[in-house]
Amino acid sequence: MVTEAKDQPYIVILMGPPGGGKGTQAKMLVQEFGLIHYSTGDILREEARRGTPAGLQARAYMEAGELVPDEILGGIVRERLAALRPGQGCILDGYPRSLAQARFLEEIRGDMPCTVINIEVPEEVLVRRLAGRRTCPTCGKVYNVHFSPPRVAERCDDCGSQLQRRKDDQAEVVRERLRVYRETTRPVVDFYRGLPGYHEVDGSGDAAQVFEAVSRAVGILAS
Ligand code: AP5
Repeated sequence: MVTEAKDQPYIVILMGPPGGGKGTQAKMLVQEFGLIHYSTGDILREEARRGTPAGLQARAYMEAGELVPDEILGGIVRERLAALRPGQGCILDGYPRSLAQARFLEEIRGDMPCTVINIEVPEEVLVRRLAGRRTCPTCGKVYNVHFSPPRVAERCDDCGSQLQRRKDDQAEVVRERLRVYRETTRPVVDFYRGLPGYHEVDGSGDAAQVFEAVSRAVGILAS
């Protein structure tokens, strides 16, 4: 991995378990550094909502807490990286999640600079966060009934829509997502650990505390 971005596009890989706070931190990074946010989970949910062939194929895997086949993700990521302009940075939130995806990304990124931020959070905290997550179906704002509740219960502060729970946040699906993370995604952390540009961040504090460490790591690349 290269750790300096100049005139080339560059990549910030945000890794971490389900509920680790990748999406939350990514939104804060967009505000701070003007990066483009590519969440593979959000992209797949949008494809499923629109009923595209990729989205329809992905839906059953997502609802069961399993990984969507690598070929579907590969096309999505390749297309987005190819569209980046010189000097533009993007966040890959939720990709790569398997060793095959990590190897594919190494192939397609060429000499684009890249940093990896791995957010570590204990499982009992993840379970509580996922049980408490609520999302606005209209504007996409994310809340947590335990940690960042809306002003009016189950209503979005910004647009007033009824908040929803993600189907894959049900307890039994969360258990499966955590198992898949331990089995298939942990080896990807080991793949990057020890390479230059790898940063590990304690994600158990509040979002602002975590962001201090995350933004320090990104600042090295984005400055
Ligand atoms: P995806 O949508 O990526 O789900 P995930 O990785 O399981 O992560 P989450 O979105 O659940 O959590 P997060 O880390 O973003 O946490 P968040 O910030 O929301 O993927 C869903 C599915 O799509 C996968 O299971 C798979 O099927 C498929 N998929 C996606 N990418 C794939 C790939 N590469 N290959 C194959 N399949 C793929 O935070 C969670 C909650 O906690 C929120 O309520 C938030 O407000 C709260 N919170 C966040 N940070 C804090 C904090 N510091 N303190 C207190 N509360 C916090």
